[in-house]
Amino acid sequence: MSLQRLLNIDVPIVQAPMAGVQNWELALAVSDSGALGSIPCGMLSPDQIVSEIVEFRKHSSRPFNLNFFCHDMPTVEQQALDRWSACLQPYYNELGLVPNSTNAATRLPFSHEIADLIEPYAPAVISFHFGLPEPELLNRVKGWGSTILSSATTVAEGLWLEEQGVEAVIAQGAEAGGHRGMFLSSDLSTQVGTFALVSQLSECLSVPVIAAGGIATAKDVKAALALGAEAVQVGTSFLLCDEAKTSSIHKQALMDSDATTAVTNIFSGRPARGIRNRVMQELGDMVEEAPVFPFATSAIAPLRAAAESQGKDDFTPLWVGQNRNGCKAESASQLIKELQEGI
Ligand SMILES: Cc1cc2nc3c(=O)[nH]c(=O)nc-3n(C[C@H](O)[C@H](O)[C@H](O)COP(=O)(O)O)c2cc1C
Repeated sequence: MSLQRLLNIDVPIVQAPMAGVQNWELALAVSDSGALGSIPCGMLSPDQIVSEIVEFRKHSSRPFNLNFFCHDMPTVEQQALDRWSACLQPYYNELGLVPNSTNAATRLPFSHEIADLIEPYAPAVISFHFGLPEPELLNRVKGWGSTILSSATTVAEGLWLEEQGVEAVIAQGAEAGGHRGMFLSSDLSTQVGTFALVSQLSECLSVPVIAAGGIATAKDVKAALALGAEAVQVGTSFLLCDEAKTSSIHKQALMDSDATTAVTNIFSGRPARGIRNRVMQELGDMVEEAPVFPFATSAIAPLRAAAESQGKDDFTPLWVGQNRNGCKAESASQLIKELQEGI
């Protein structure tokens, strides 16, 4: 079955789920334009997840994608947290802050508890980032009839996802903004560009491939489809859309034509692409002292809040991909129209 039929969409475009910068409103605008809107749930509480689904459903019966992280939840050693605090201490001193001892996890992985809550809504599409939930939980979700997608950043990950029964693989190239979905290896040298990955995955997989990373214009969409992708997943280009909730500090940074991006683990513990800001420049993009995902976030959060209150993005994760050509203040439906010109 073609991917468009499988996802029940008219346009081969998936709006990338983007935790922290959008909610059901962007997903709704995209789904109502005939593409697939996504609701990111990775940073939401169980109640918020349900409320997002209910709000979307109040306005539309079109399909949408619910997105979850499915990382292993590690136990973090106090020593590792102390090392991270010591690394950030000069910034605490500078801002006159006292480190807080709470180290709550900011992102919880998909679980049976979340599945209990969303089961009554049987979402048409569920996408996962950082691999897949354990097989019993995955089978439970498939049992409702939800179509399952997940991100691969290497050929090995794509083959693994297909073997576990995903219905389509999102090929996330190195250009992509936000967290790298990598899960079989943590070696950043395994990460390749979108077109290299799409062309390899579409050769070796039998399930459809969705190209993600750096796709910002109709020409990029056409190129991805020519390489064998059946659809594209676009994130960065939606960041300035009317329906997104991107903060003004984030918007300002991404409109700065001199800003460069890099992959960093500073904000969460896992590699993610964003605009290089002060803390990345000073500590280095990949920092050994950053504790395991998601435990790097809580120590940096007070610094972020204090700096943002002074209008500074020194400690803000400014997730964005390498290609900002598609970022415009316009409606999501207009962006979809532009992306599908000529396909
Ligand atoms: C601000 C931002 C937040 C993101 N958050 C998520 C997320 O919550 N879940 C997810 O699966 N991918 C997330 N991603 C990655 C996207 O799914 C996708 O791989 C990426 O946006 C594609 O590349 P592009 O940004 O160049 O279009 C995020 C990307 C951005 C830019």
